[in-house]
Amino acid sequence: MSTGPDPLALARVADAALNYVADGMLLGLGTGRAAEAFIDRLGERVRGGLRVRGVATSERSEALARKAQIETIPIEQAGRFDVAFDGADEVTPDLALTKGLGGALVRERVVAREADRFVVLVTPEKLVARLGERTPVPVEVVPFAVSKVEKNLAALGGRPVVRTKADGFPYRTDNGNLILDTGFDPIADPAALEAAIDRIPGVVDCGLFVGMATVVIVGGPDAVRELRREG
Ligand code: A5P
Repeated sequence: MSTGPDPLALARVADAALNYVADGMLLGLGTGRAAEAFIDRLGERVRGGLRVRGVATSERSEALARKAQIETIPIEQAGRFDVAFDGADEVTPDLALTKGLGGALVRERVVAREADRFVVLVTPEKLVARLGERTPVPVEVVPFAVSKVEKNLAALGGRPVVRTKADGFPYRTDNGNLILDTGFDPIADPAALEAAIDRIPGVVDCGLFVGMATVVIVGGPDAVRELRREG
């Protein structure tokens, strides 16, 4: 069984991400272990006097932020975000991402698209040459459409599987939808595949995030480095 990312490495990445935070900012708060490490560290700064507000991308992150005493606001009250912080499941050299193993991909994209900077926090095992090498692509689907979306994903070369919880029942997102974790062979053109998946009726969104990350902070056992898109 996988033990998951090294918590010390995640804490180091979270500390490095704090360099992108300044007093008075409006922040997007992502979902997953790396994002939670960031919320934890941000909370320490807030309790030390830093003033920021945040919008959380999941009910879980909302609860964690409140517990950490970070002020959260409903997205309806938010203007543009100064920075959105989030994790990823895969990262390519040109900073294309797979996201959504934590199930929050729709809200994560909504927030990241509204942010001046999108800062991604990962540990080195997430770095891949091509998306699809390490994880399936999560596809959020309205429940009525699942059988038809499965057929259409298979026509694109995908191998969709309905995500289930430990009790065997289907996993539901915070939006009340289902997720089809869809294996693909390593993906040559993620932007084209993203567009093709998004065109399938019944698909709400998929976990391919292309051309969105401003910087990816990678924390290893000893050091942290930052990857940026060229050009
Ligand atoms: C949540 O829906 C995801 O997009 C996460 O950001 C992604 O799965 C990375 O999560 P971890 O930081 O837990 O690996």
